[in-house]
Amino acid sequence: MEAARSSNAPIPAARVVHTSRGELAVCEAGSGDSLVFLHGFPLDHTMWREQIAEFGSRGRVIAPDLRGFGKSPPASPLSVESMADDTAAILGALGVRGPIVLCGLSMGGYVAFQFWRKYRERVRALVLCDTRAVADTPEAAQGRREQIGRVQSEGVQPVADAMIGKLFAPRTVDHQAELVKCVRETMLSADPAGVVAALEALATRPDVRDYLPKITCPTLVVVGQHDAISPMAEMRTLATAIPAAEFVVLEDSGHMSPLENPRAFNAALDGFLNRVRKA
Ligand code: MLT
Repeated sequence: MEAARSSNAPIPAARVVHTSRGELAVCEAGSGDSLVFLHGFPLDHTMWREQIAEFGSRGRVIAPDLRGFGKSPPASPLSVESMADDTAAILGALGVRGPIVLCGLSMGGYVAFQFWRKYRERVRALVLCDTRAVADTPEAAQGRREQIGRVQSEGVQPVADAMIGKLFAPRTVDHQAELVKCVRETMLSADPAGVVAALEALATRPDVRDYLPKITCPTLVVVGQHDAISPMAEMRTLATAIPAAEFVVLEDSGHMSPLENPRAFNAALDGFLNRVRKA
């Protein structure tokens, strides 16, 4: 059996900061240019632990718990736009002045699109991982609302059960059982109120396809070869629509590519950051 590729790297604990939009939690490491990581649903900043450990030793890494996840208290109603506003508020509270590199996975990518739309002068570059530009179909939105009903009556387990089978590449399931277990535990520890609010935010998120040609900053689009939620072909189309996008496919990875294949993910991100620095 091949050794697990995820090192379960130790990272600083998230701390609660007082922002202009209330208390929100954030994990921070390092100093210098800011690299901001926005997590997927229904997770928290710990899904970026391999990147926090690696890039926090060379620059400033900021990984919020989006509202309702980790140590950030829930609020309703919630939208991907309000999560972008929360991200801006966290940056304000941390005194981040210069432009950031903003990296979002899936739900974090939906938030990154909104952050670019509202605060583009603060974005030096974008990294869009395993995410989608399309809105939910009416059927998908209806499915989320059915999940809301189940979370309200049964807690987060039905959501964790529905998602866990879609998150990983077959090789991850076969060879990284600890990683799969750890992600499942993160999902099960989520606050049901946060999950309910986020499901509604996902169901009502806007379609941003018309918007992609307007993204003019350097952009890296990353997808796991076996991503079952934001498939490779769809992400290639997304990358093609963004004028300055690079497109990278990570082998043996699914939707959780930064955790499943952190070495390849970090190498792709590092190369991109070096090119951005020199541009
Ligand atoms: C995520 O990973 O954030 C979710 O799969 C997003 C979604 O369900 O649209």
